[in-house]
Amino acid sequence: MNTLKSADYWIKAARHPKLDLDQVASQNYSLPPAIHKDVRSQQVGYLENILRQRTGPRHVLDLGCGPGVWALQLAHLADSWLGYDIAPTFVEHARQQAAQRGLDHLKFEVGSMLGVKCEQRFDVVVLGGILGYVEDQDLLPLMRNAAAHLAPGGVVYVRISVIPGIYPRITLKGSYPINYRKAAHYVEVFREAGFRVTMERDYAFTEASLSTAYTAMARWFGRTGMTAYRVALRLRPVSFGLARRLLDLTPLPQSMQFVLQ
Ligand SMILES: C[S@@+](CC[C@H](N)C(=O)[O-])C[C@H]1O[C@@H](n2cnc3c(N)ncnc32)[C@H](O)[C@@H]1O
Repeated sequence: MNTLKSADYWIKAARHPKLDLDQVASQNYSLPPAIHKDVRSQQVGYLENILRQRTGPRHVLDLGCGPGVWALQLAHLADSWLGYDIAPTFVEHARQQAAQRGLDHLKFEVGSMLGVKCEQRFDVVVLGGILGYVEDQDLLPLMRNAAAHLAPGGVVYVRISVIPGIYPRITLKGSYPINYRKAAHYVEVFREAGFRVTMERDYAFTEASLSTAYTAMARWFGRTGMTAYRVALRLRPVSFGLARRLLDLTPLPQSMQFVLQ
């Protein structure tokens, strides 16, 4: 199996000397830290709901776990959490953080998401923002392998950027190699791997950006007591809806979530 050259990209990126590693892992480099935190807490919230809704055991396999932020935040909801990542710096960071907090049910290994082989079966397999780094021919084997690692009744949670609307997929080959596929492509592969698929857009980024814009506006207009701000506040739900629709008209990659059973 081949990964894109993205493995090299990630091994280097994880060694960034200054940035918060979660900003590196989430590619939110240019976002102000407050928006980044807002986006991440919403995204972690989606997985949190999935874990909370489960009634039986919660053993989690997290492929491409990055610096372990999701594992650390959701540790209290998991019986065990095994994360794999190709970047040793991320794995080292995740291990240190788990050890510092005494979370010894969280384990992290350096390894490729392709060809993972564990005796254990898992209730939730997490593929958070990683499928774009997989070549087309490796996607189906990866999903079949995920299916093979599921315990009865288990689910796979996928978050991935896709190209909306009428625009074609994009494959970047330069220093940051990634595939931005169409959602329909993923659905077809997931079904072929034997999954029942549900999907939902992840608007965390849009909503966090708009909320921040509103907060900035509040500071500015709030002091002057301008009616414009009060009107804008009333229109807030409408502007969220409008922003969602407008995004679909652009060729920009959009975050999508899938739950596979
Ligand atoms: C966009 S980040 C997502 C990290 C984390 N899942 C999250 O949602 O915050 C992609 C992650 O995939 C990892 N990765 C890339 N190629 C990989 C491979 N072949 N095997 C395992 N991990 C890989 C990177 O090191 C990086 O941590």
